[in-house]
Amino acid sequence: MAAQSEYVFAGKLSDLKSSRKQRVTVSDRVLALFYANGQVYALDHFCYHTGGPLSLGDIEDSHGRMCIICPWHKHSITLDTGESLYTAIDPFNPRNIKHNCSKGVKQRTHSVRIEGDDILVKLSDVTEKVFESDRYFTEEYKVFMENV
Ligand code: FES
Repeated sequence: MAAQSEYVFAGKLSDLKSSRKQRVTVSDRVLALFYANGQVYALDHFCYHTGGPLSLGDIEDSHGRMCIICPWHKHSITLDTGESLYTAIDPFNPRNIKHNCSKGVKQRTHSVRIEGDDILVKLSDVTEKVFESDRYFTEEYKVFMENV
């Protein structure tokens, strides 16, 4: 898929404010749109872990970071950056808990612009597969799924 250089219509803000989560397709890429804290976010729809449908997850505030919780295995993914977060617990001192530790960016995010009631999305440069969520949009994955 070629890089998309323009913003394209992806949905109505009024609809997203009601549902808070939507699955949409932009230029053959399946995305999840989220509305949280007055902001709209666009991420790849299929969870980097094993392909869970993020638009069916719950939006949660994780110690100050807005996240989508994947409905399949409950991984926590930040809406703004696509980082996967975890809570670290020191086994020698279980009271020593560190929230919001990052595994790095796993889920690709895309740019959003609002014009009136229109949500416009510009895909980030998907020509290079650099994030784990990219795997669901490769030819290898399509061939694999056709042969399962
Ligand atoms: Fe999302 Fe496993 S598929 S956490």
